This record gives sequence, structure tokens and C-alpha cells, in this order.
Amino acid sequence: MNILITGGAGYIGSCTTFKIIQKYNAKCIIIDKQETSNLEKLKLNYPKNIEFYKIDMCNYTDFNELFEHLNTKSLRIDSVIHFAAYTIVSESEKEIHKYLHNNITSTLNLLDLMNKYEINNLIFSSSASVYGQAKYIPIDENHPLNPQSSYALSKKISEDIISKYSQKGLNFINLRYFNPAGTIGHLGEEHNPETHLIPLLIKSLIEGKIFKIFGNDFPTPDGTCIRDFIHIEDLVESHLLCMEKLLNEEIENETFNIGINKGYSVLEVVNKSMEIFNKKIHHKFRYTIDNRREGDVPILVAQAEKIKNKLGFQPKYKLEDILLSVWNYEIQKISL
Ligand code: UFG
Repeated sequence: MNILITGGAGYIGSCTTFKIIQKYNAKCIIIDKQETSNLEKLKLNYPKNIEFYKIDMCNYTDFNELFEHLNTKSLRIDSVIHFAAYTIVSESEKEIHKYLHNNITSTLNLLDLMNKYEINNLIFSSSASVYGQAKYIPIDENHPLNPQSSYALSKKISEDIISKYSQKGLNFINLRYFNPAGTIGHLGEEHNPETHLIPLLIKSLIEGKIFKIFGNDFPTPDGTCIRDFIHIEDLVESHLLCMEKLLNEEIENETFNIGINKGYSVLEVVNKSMEIFNKKIHHKFRYTIDNRREGDVPILVAQAEKIKNKLGFQPKYKLEDILLSVWNYEIQKISL
């Protein structure tokens, strides 16, 4: 089996690649703009399974050459998983052109080339941010789409482009992630800069730095934002399941939420972490309340029954598991 994984060097992409190799011993053709420590680990452990191409997917000519190259090697791609994108919501509000151009053009080029080379199965890494400010909670897949940031808009437009190409024979599954977090063994979040709540919080706990909560005046019970955190183990599992269903032609053209149906406020995550890790640290952990961050919506909690009913997918892990996995990952980095 040959799987093309765009953004396969990134956090979710590398974790998914790892599981695909472990489960199917598949060949994974990774396209990414950059090399990362997670990619290094994959290449080291699975040299025969990984083919890596450093490519800017917005460059149609280069991208086409890659497909041509795979074609001449008779390397038939069974499915594509499309992760590659810029993903920082707040940055996307400052750099509108960068986000819309990159995330939309890369998707458009990918779909056009898939069409040209007759590759028909796609799993797309979409985002709960396409819903915008929730009109009701939990949010199901029929909730109106109202993207608030350029990042969210780029995901919404990408979904529209995918839908257009489905008229040309593409079979797709859009996965709208809520808040992925946690690690899979030696693969974790290595964003630069890191902006996500859980890795920043755990690092603050370990390093004794003051943690900033962005805003406590949101319309939520404690004033801090509420999110639905999905363990990366579960998130990756949902991709494997969807890929199998696509390849077996048991499903096509679907959009699923991926979350755990339960929200935690930022303050609750902070308090839970202190409860679990306070006895492991030798300094006093402190946090402050800072200004709101641009683009943050108050509440995002999934109604994730659709994928459960249609594919039998149910997340196994809880917030505590996520926090522990990130703690172990960060501690291990210090002791290396
Ligand atoms: N937060 C803090 N302090 C920090 C970091 C984050 O208070 O140091 C807060 C944020 O303001 C937000 C919450 O923690 O209220 C979660 O923030 P994250 O950056 O961890 O995640 P986001 O909800 O902003 O975004 C994530 C993904 C997006 C995706 C979105 C959809 O990064 O790609 O979930 O739910 F679109």
C-alpha cells in the first residue's frame, strides 16, 4: 500500500505516518516544506517505508514533477491524506494573504494533480474552527459554517474545493478536528513557535515559568475559553479507520467531527494539571490572566455521534491521558 501524506513531517502528519507504517507496513510518501525532528525520527526508524520530498505545494510545476516522478516509478498512490497547512489561528489574522494563499493554493494544486493522475481517495485535515462562534453546543456537522479567522476560512474554502472535485470522481472524507493534543511515544508537538495550550502549560509547569491565560471575560462559566481536547492516539485512529473504509469503498464523501463530546475550560485544564503534577515539581506554579488572543472563540465542543454511528469510532482517551503523555514527553526531552 502506498499513501501520500502532505505535511507528514508535522505533528499530526508524523504521528499518522508512524501508525500507518506500524499497522500496514505501507510506503509513506511524505511531502513537506520542511524537515523536522519528528521526520528525522521516522526516517531513522523506518528508512524503507519513508520517501520524503521537500516541496512547496503551491508551486504547481514542482508538484507536478513529483507526481510525474512517482508515475514513472510506477508507484501507484492508493490514498492521500492532506495535512499540510499553516495552522496558527492568531497569526492567520495578521497574515491573511499568507494563510489564504498557502492553504488554498496547495489544496487546489493537490486536487488538480490527483485528478490528473487518477488518484481518487482523499482524507482532509479540516478543523472545527470552520463553525466559528457556536450557535448551539455541542456542535454537530450540520451547524452553520461561519469561519472567523483566515485559517478557518482557508479550511472552509478547501472543503468547498474538495466538494467540487468530488464531481470529477474524487472520494473524500473531511475530518473536522476539535483540539488535538498529546503524544504518541516519541512523537509530539514540536511547533516553532509553540502556541498551543497543553504543551505550553506543561512546559511552564516543568520549567517554573508563569503561564498566561488569554482572557477570562468570555461568556463561559469561569470566563475562560472552553475546548474539546482529543488525544492524538484517537485522532490518528480515526484517520486509519476512514482510510480503510475509503479503500474498501464502504464510504465516500463524508464530513465528520472528531472530538470527545466534552469541553474543558482553559482554567479547568490548568487546575487539573496542577492537581496531577504539583507533587512532581519543586517550585510554585503560577499563572496570570492576559489579554484575549485574536481569533479565539469562546466555546468549541463537538457532537461527534456521526462518526460513531456510521463507522463505530469512539475515542478511548481522556484529558488526564493527554496531560500525562505530554508531561512524559517533555520530561524525557530534558533528560536526553
Ligand atoms: N491558551 C491560553 N494560553 C496559552 C495558549 C492557549 O490561554 O498559552 C488558550 C487559548 O487562548 C484558547 C485555548 O487555550 O482559548 C486553546 O488554544 P490552542 O492554541 O491550544 O488551540 P485553539 O483552540 O486556538 O486552536 C486549535 C488548533 C486549530 C484549530 C482549533 C479548532 O490549533 O488549528 O483548535 O478547535 F482550528
